[in-house]
Amino acid sequence: MKLAVRYFTRSGNTKRLAEAVAQALGQQALDLSHPLSERVDLLVLGCSYYAFDVDPAVKSFLLENRLKIGRLVCVGTSAMMRSLRGPLSRAAKRAQIPLDEREFHCRGQFHKAHPGRPNEKDLERAACFAKQLLAEETGAQRQEEWDH
Ligand SMILES: Cc1cc2nc3c(=O)[nH]c(=O)nc-3n(C[C@H](O)[C@H](O)[C@H](O)COP(=O)(O)O)c2cc1C
Repeated sequence: MKLAVRYFTRSGNTKRLAEAVAQALGQQALDLSHPLSERVDLLVLGCSYYAFDVDPAVKSFLLENRLKIGRLVCVGTSAMMRSLRGPLSRAAKRAQIPLDEREFHCRGQFHKAHPGRPNEKDLERAACFAKQLLAEETGAQRQEEWDH
């Protein structure tokens, strides 16, 4: 099973989150200036809310790389929201990429709000999410191989 981790960040919060997730997956977290070099079964995408939407760079990346992405899993930060599912599912739909049900989301520092977030605890929880994701994906792949 092929995995990749990409992120978009403006102030570094989502970069730290994506790096914690990538480390748990045994991958490297790269920003969106790195297009996918090969098709992946699962793209773990780090992104955040900016004015109730994802950044246009996220939408462009999905459109430009859509033929190389089997499925999308979101890991994200925001100041107020609990999930990026709304704007990301619209962007994924436009690019015709299935968006996975699983998602990790936590607070990200925004000016004086939520200082230090994501903090160590957030990053630990994100790494647990990633390990669980990997275990589920590996299990699903074994089951598929067994069924054939
Ligand atoms: C211009 C701007 C607009 C934002 N709009 C929202 C928003 O609509 N909803 C929200 O929950 N957080 C919003 N935030 C907070 C960011 O989502 C939050 O700080 C996030 O952790 C930033 O991640 P980054 O450091 O990876 O860019 C906004 C931040 C900025 C800079």
